[in-house]
Amino acid sequence: MEFFIDTANVDEIRRAAAWGVLDGVTTNPSLVAKEGRDFKQVILEICDIVKGPVSAECVTVTADEMIAEGRELASWSPYIVVKVPLIPAGIAACKVLSQEGIRCNVTLCFSPAQALLACKAGAAYVSPFVGRLEDRNEEGMRVVEDIVQIIDNYGYGTKVIVASIRDTLHVTQAALMGAHVATMPFAVLQKMFDHPLTQIGLDAFLADWKKLQDKQGQ
Ligand code: E4P
Repeated sequence: MEFFIDTANVDEIRRAAAWGVLDGVTTNPSLVAKEGRDFKQVILEICDIVKGPVSAECVTVTADEMIAEGRELASWSPYIVVKVPLIPAGIAACKVLSQEGIRCNVTLCFSPAQALLACKAGAAYVSPFVGRLEDRNEEGMRVVEDIVQIIDNYGYGTKVIVASIRDTLHVTQAALMGAHVATMPFAVLQKMFDHPLTQIGLDAFLADWKKLQDKQGQ
């Protein structure tokens, strides 16, 4: 399973990369706006840190505009994956860009039927938004399970990015379902380390070791 973080904050990306478990990054216009920095500059900085897939989202709405924007974004770095929304124009742009060898991440996916459209358009990735579905009392992880099954049934080359992750349970459930990628906030990745018995055990090991050193030093 690949781990991406869902942020445009380079400090968070540097910290996650230092742990050696980071495969890529997803951004969206809201995350980039939160940083208040130049879009191209921040995306290139992220590419330089992760040296893996970095999703940069189109902010246009017609297919022709998204195709032009996608070509421009992809020209910035070979690590860039062009993010397009799951609307007819986004799917049409995905088809054209994918045929040109530009990887697309079809975002804002909320149903298996929508995901099927992304697969047929040759998307490299499709991103079902689990947390936002659960906010509406819909079963987000069930949608992921169905998409993974559909991709498996037909052998589509599209990878599922489980997105809008709110907690570590989403990540482990996604892994059990065989989803290819989880993109999570930095806080969720950090929380994956946590278990009280780990710290209690470590403290005991170190205390016993120190006792031995003290005894041998006497
Ligand atoms: C995915 O690529 C999106 O950026 C993201 O996961 C959205 O998550 P949110 O629902 O927490 O905003």
